[in-house]
Amino acid sequence: MIVDIHSHFFPRLSREEARDLSSSLPWLSVHDDATGTIMRGAELFRPVTAPLWDPIARVADLDRHGVDLQIISATPALFGYENDPAEAAASARHINDLSLAHCAVDTKRLKSLCQVPLQDLGLACDELDRAMASGHVGVQIGNHVGSRDMDDGALIEFLQHCGTIGAPVLVHPWDMMARERMDRYMLQWLVGMPAETQLSILYLILSGAFARLPTSLKLCFAHGGGSFAFLLGRVDNAWRNRDIVRCDCPELPSSYTNRFFTDSIVFEANALTLLVETMGSGRVMFGTDHPFPLGEQTPGQLIKDHAGLGPKERDQLFGTNALSFFNLHVSDTVAA
Ligand code: CO
Repeated sequence: MIVDIHSHFFPRLSREEARDLSSSLPWLSVHDDATGTIMRGAELFRPVTAPLWDPIARVADLDRHGVDLQIISATPALFGYENDPAEAAASARHINDLSLAHCAVDTKRLKSLCQVPLQDLGLACDELDRAMASGHVGVQIGNHVGSRDMDDGALIEFLQHCGTIGAPVLVHPWDMMARERMDRYMLQWLVGMPAETQLSILYLILSGAFARLPTSLKLCFAHGGGSFAFLLGRVDNAWRNRDIVRCDCPELPSSYTNRFFTDSIVFEANALTLLVETMGSGRVMFGTDHPFPLGEQTPGQLIKDHAGLGPKERDQLFGTNALSFFNLHVSDTVAA
C-alpha cells in the first residue's frame, strides 16, 4: 500500500474566472495537452505539467510510479491569505469544490485536502466544516499569515478546532522570509522553505502551544520538517543553557516530536535516516510534491532503496502511518 500524502493540484482557472474570484488569484495558462504556466495576471509564475490540472494524466502518473493513493492539496499560491477574508473564503470554497471534482475521476486513487481563509478564524472554521462534510480528508494550511506565526492565538484556535472535529492538518511553507535576499537560483525554495517550516515547528514547541492543543490533533509538516531535525540538537542545547529559550516551554524541545508528523521529502538517504531516528518510523509519511520539478522524480525510490529501513518501517512510511493519520481504511482505496 503506497500513499503519497503531499502532492499538488491547480484547477484549470482562466484569467477571467480567477479575476472574478479575486484580483490577486493566480490562473492557469494551458499550452497543450502536456504543459502550461501558472500566471499572476500577465506575469509568468511557474511552468507546470498536465498532472497538476488533469486527473487522467495524474492517475497515469500514479500507475507509472506504483502509487496506490494520492492525497492532493492546492498549490500554496492559491491560499489568498493576503486578501479580504470574505473574498478568500469564496475562492477557497470554489477551489475546494474543484479539487473534489478532480478527485471524482477516481475516488479510490485520489483524495483531497481543503484550504481555508486562515486570516479569519470564524470563516476558516466554517469552510473547514463544510469541506470535511463534502468529502475532503483534511486541510492544508500555509505556515503563517503575514506576520502571524504558528504561536498566534487565532491560528492555535484554528488548530484546536481541527483537533476537535478530527480534521488532519498538513502545514506547508509559503510566502517565504527575506525574499529580497533570495530572488535568484530558487533560493526561496532551497533555503527559505526549510527555514519557514523549522520556524513554525519551533514556534509551536517554544511557545508552549502543544500544552494548549489537544493530543487528538493530527499535524504534519512538509518537506521532512524542513531544517528541524538537523538542528534539533542546537535547540535542545539552547533550551538547557538560556532561560529566554525555555521560559514558555516546560519540557526539552526534542520531547515534543511525539506531537506531530513530517513527510519524507528529503531526497537523500542520510537525511531520511536522521529524520526517522528523530521522529520515529511511526511519524514519517511518504510524500512527493508531485507533479512539481522540485518533487521526488522517481516517487518512492528513496524509501524503497533505503538500506536502513526494515519491511515494517517501510510499510509504515509508505502507507500504514498515512491511513491512520487521515482516518482511512484500506477499503477506501484501490488496494482493497
Ligand atoms: Co508542496
